[in-house]
Amino acid sequence: MSELPTPTEIRSEQLLSIQSYLLAEEAQHPHASGRFTWILSAISLATKFIAARCRRARIEGVLGSMDTENVQGEVQQKLDVIANETLISCLGSRAGLAIVASEENDEPIMLHADNSSERPYIALFDPLDGSSNLDTCGTVGTIFSILEHDRRSNSPEEALRQSGTKQVAAGYVLYGPSTVMVLTHGKGVQMFVLDPTIGSFLLVEKNLRIPAAAKTYSMNEAYSNEFALGYKNYLKWAHENGYSTRYAGAMVADVHRVMIKGGVFLYPPTAKAPVGKLRLMYEANPMAMLVEQAGGKSFSGMTRTLEIQPDSLHQRTSVVMGSPDEVDHVMRHLEENPPE
Ligand code: AHG
Ligand code: MN
Ligand code: MN
Repeated sequence: MSELPTPTEIRSEQLLSIQSYLLAEEAQHPHASGRFTWILSAISLATKFIAARCRRARIEGVLGSMDTENVQGEVQQKLDVIANETLISCLGSRAGLAIVASEENDEPIMLHADNSSERPYIALFDPLDGSSNLDTCGTVGTIFSILEHDRRSNSPEEALRQSGTKQVAAGYVLYGPSTVMVLTHGKGVQMFVLDPTIGSFLLVEKNLRIPAAAKTYSMNEAYSNEFALGYKNYLKWAHENGYSTRYAGAMVADVHRVMIKGGVFLYPPTAKAPVGKLRLMYEANPMAMLVEQAGGKSFSGMTRTLEIQPDSLHQRTSVVMGSPDEVDHVMRHLEENPPE
């Protein structure tokens, strides 16, 4: 029987915090201004704070819903509001950001009126994904996306309406038994785990690759009567071919599982959400960039998710994302019976 490593043996040669990782990346770009690193460090700080609030939520009495709804007409959890305020306050003070936009806010927040070239970036986020899991101590997460700011835009909304291919970085933080950050800035996917004893995200996997195939699908199958024929046929095929299902009800947790173990995550259009439920700019695009950077695929209907040109900031979409071979199996069925 192999013995467990002692704490001093654990990764001692290669301890690398997210800050060190980002500074090392920045050093490879002599003209880098450091603004991008500074923005990611705000996300790191905010998500450590959110992780701590989630862990203490029951004790602090902040579980449960508010009396308010967000811009999407969804009931807000108290922690949705706390997470949103935390991200806005951490990011809002960082030089380099022109605009922040949140799933929980009707309008984007223009941080400075001067439209300066010193502020070349935009940050978008879903502050707490899967927040209805909170009351049952289920996994939740934060999803974020960074875009470049085009100062020629006529309005913040116009500046934000960029396709997912334009993202310069994307990531998520999962608040589970451990707090995990998965990040891409277009050079593969890196995974960090928060060491709560020292308060630092440490690099645990460089260039994370999604398994090419795994017989698992992740979807809310209870809606299957409402799915278009192509999705129904895929499900029938999966049932006949020995697939398993896993569904946490938080996209960030379900897609993380797919990133690590392989499989496919689907949220097709339903009667209640005829174009899909997930938000293109706050959820689908950042997760699609991560999945593609890890060697996976992501489609919305028959279109590559990242190529959708958004019409509006809070636009929703369907998604099929995950292991390349598993996405191909779904797409084969959709090609035979294309959804409208
Ligand atoms: P949010 O909590 O940010 O509103 O997102 C919830 C989303 C997503 O995380 C998840 O995949 C999906 O809602 C679950 O929806 P169903 O309950 O319809 O399955
Ligand atoms: Mn969400
Ligand atoms: Mn949310």
